[in-house]
Amino acid sequence: MRIVRISDLDNYIGKEVAKPLRLKDGRIYVNSNIRITKGSVNALQRNIDNLAHRFITIHTDDSEDIDLYDDIISDELKFEAKDKIEATLKQFSSRRTERVKKMTNEIINNLYSNPNTIFGTNMLFLAGGEDHAVHCLNVAILSAIMAIKAGYNKNELEKIVLGAALHDIGMAKIDKRLLDINYTYNKKEDYLEMQKHPLEGYNLVKNKINVLSKRIILMHHVWEDFNASYDSGMDTYMSYPHKLNNTLLDGQYKDLSISIVQTADVFEAMTNKEAGYKSAKSKAEAMEYIRSMKFVQFGAGADYLVNYITPYDTGTEVILNNREKAVVMRYTNLPQRPILKLLTGDDKGEIINLMDKKFLTLKIMS
Ligand SMILES: [Fe+2]
Ligand SMILES: [Fe+2]
Repeated sequence: MRIVRISDLDNYIGKEVAKPLRLKDGRIYVNSNIRITKGSVNALQRNIDNLAHRFITIHTDDSEDIDLYDDIISDELKFEAKDKIEATLKQFSSRRTERVKKMTNEIINNLYSNPNTIFGTNMLFLAGGEDHAVHCLNVAILSAIMAIKAGYNKNELEKIVLGAALHDIGMAKIDKRLLDINYTYNKKEDYLEMQKHPLEGYNLVKNKINVLSKRIILMHHVWEDFNASYDSGMDTYMSYPHKLNNTLLDGQYKDLSISIVQTADVFEAMTNKEAGYKSAKSKAEAMEYIRSMKFVQFGAGADYLVNYITPYDTGTEVILNNREKAVVMRYTNLPQRPILKLLTGDDKGEIINLMDKKFLTLKIMS
C-alpha cells in the first residue's frame, strides 16, 4: 500500500484504490477497489479543494505489511466533530460546548486505546486548515496525541483537548475580511485587530468553561520570551496578547498544556493551509522552524511534536541522502529513523532499519 499525494497520482495509473476517499461534506467520492485511470486522476486533481484529504491510499503489488494509522480516528468522527466545533465557533453556548466535548472525549478514547507510538498527519488531519473549524479540529487531534505522550491524566486531557478545539473561538469577534486566506494584510491595524482574538475568546467563554481550557484560549499565542519580536516587514511577529499580565489568570504562567496546543496550532497552520498563493510548507520544514524557535516561542511542547510525530508517514515514498527511493513501512519509536523498504538501487526490495548501525549514514531527505 502507498499513501500518495493526489498531485503525484499520475505515477500510479492502473493501481487500485485501497481506502475510500471522501469529500469535505462526508460523502464518498472514490470507493476502494476502483482502478485509477488518467480520467480519475484529472477529476481528483480538479476537485482537490473539495476533498477531505490531499492524499489517497492505494494498493501496490509489494509492501503488504505497512502499518497504517489512519483508521484510529475515523473520517466520520472527524466530520461530526468538525460540525460541532463549527456550530460553537459561530455561536458559543454551554450546550454547544458540551457537544464538542463529547466529540473530543471520543477522539481521546480512540487514541488511548491504540498502542501505536508514532503518528504522521497526512491522513490524521482533514485537509483545508484555512477553514477555521477544520483547523481547530486538527489542532485538537494533534494536541491530544502530544498531551497523551506528556502523561496528562484523562481529566486534564479532556480539558486540554476541549481548549484546543475552541482555541480560536475569539475569531468570531474579529473583522471578517481578515479571516479570508486570500486577503493580504496591508496595514499594521490588520495585525493588531487579528491579535485581539485570544482575549476576545477568553471574554466570550468566561465562567462558562473550565479554567484549563480557558487559559489555552487566552494564552495560545504567548511566547516563552514575552519580549522577543521579529520584524517581517510591516508585521512584527511577537507574543500576544501584548503585555499580558499574569493577574489575568490568577498568577498562572504559560504551562506545558498551552505550549502543546501552541505548537500544534503553528504546525497545523504551516502544513495544512493551502489556498491561492499560500501553499503549505512541508512537515519537515515546519518542524525545523518549531525546533529552532523552541526557547523563544514554543517551550517544552515543541519536544512532544518532534519526538512523537513524524514528517514521513508510513506508506509514503521518501528519498534518502544516497538518492535512492524507499517506502516507510513502520516506526519503532524514532520519528526520523523508521523501517524502510528500498525501491531503487542495488539493494532494491531490501527492508532496512535506519537505526541499524549499518545504515546510520543514511537519512531521509524528503
Ligand atoms: Fe489563534
Ligand atoms: Fe489557531
